[in-house]
Amino acid sequence: MLILGIETSCDEASAAVVEDGRRILSNVIYSQDEIHSLYGGVVPELASREHLRKIDTVVGEALAGAGTTADRIDAFAATCGPGLIGSLLVGVCYAKALAYVFKKPLYGVNHLIGHMHAVFLEHERPAPPYMALIVSGGHTSLVYTDAAGTVGTVGKTRDDAAGEAFDKVAKMLGLGYPGGPRIERAAASGKPTIRFSRAKISDGSLDFSFSGLKTAVLYHLRERPATSQAAIADICASFQKTAVESLVEQTGRALDLHPSNALLLCGGVACNKALRAAMSDLARSRGLPCLYPSPRLCADNGAMIAAAALGAGIPPVSPLDLDGDPNLRIAVRVG
Ligand code: KG4
Ligand code: ZN
Repeated sequence: MLILGIETSCDEASAAVVEDGRRILSNVIYSQDEIHSLYGGVVPELASREHLRKIDTVVGEALAGAGTTADRIDAFAATCGPGLIGSLLVGVCYAKALAYVFKKPLYGVNHLIGHMHAVFLEHERPAPPYMALIVSGGHTSLVYTDAAGTVGTVGKTRDDAAGEAFDKVAKMLGLGYPGGPRIERAAASGKPTIRFSRAKISDGSLDFSFSGLKTAVLYHLRERPATSQAAIADICASFQKTAVESLVEQTGRALDLHPSNALLLCGGVACNKALRAAMSDLARSRGLPCLYPSPRLCADNGAMIAAAALGAGIPPVSPLDLDGDPNLRIAVRVG
């Protein structure tokens, strides 16, 4: 079973061919970082226009890389939300056209479910129940798969996503976009000596909040501008430590409340080595495995979308009038 997966929810255009939901035959990722770095963040209109320019090439390269052609693909999948509507529509419309022309099933995939399936491309899928922390530029969510395989969001950010906070702090420090990897690099030579206050969610929920931490860095910089590499490194190390602590704290509480056989860590921020180490420690303290994808599969990619389409039993085929939904919620059964 060959599935072509298309991902265009934000600023990466990607297409991949995946065999039987597990074997990646090709995974072409075209990043727009160069375009958006000029503005310090993703400009939605530029992202969708660039997707339109690149989608043919990316899909063509994915098919060629897999040594196949569109008429030999068994099903077409595309991210249909959440994401930027203009960007989503490019991938959704492209997949719809292919499904229509080749008379094959179409699968609209939730981007967050896609990120979770990036884990299953490289690790044996654990028996449910399990908890997933999905951390990216647009999302910070705790997604729980219960023993029956029903998937639901048990916590999410109330303001900025974790990756967005990394990107904004990097911008304040003049480090450029995307900020996450640059903060991580700078943090490596710094000491976490600054205590940044962070929002405490006091209503007992499993939600996150990162705007307070971002503002704490801003206020710190107003009082003490970072004029040396050493000062920047210390701010990065302190910010990263605090952000990781927030993520670990709520994930630990989520594991207290929801029995789990494994902890999954996925999304672009899951590339961060400090976060990987802290989540691995958390999982180990509960006697659980911590599973995360290799960095290339943490970031947005088509392979995770193809894998999610065939993830665990085939989800319902999407109609050919499938639309992009920027606010798509998780409401699926995968088991
Ligand atoms: O999953 P992704 O590629 O796109 C979205 O769905 O948003 O995640 C991109 C985000 C960006 O905010 C980027 O700064 C962050 O992931 N990121 C990192 C690291 N690598 C990427 N954040 C922290 N540390 C990293 N090493
Ligand atoms: Zn993503």
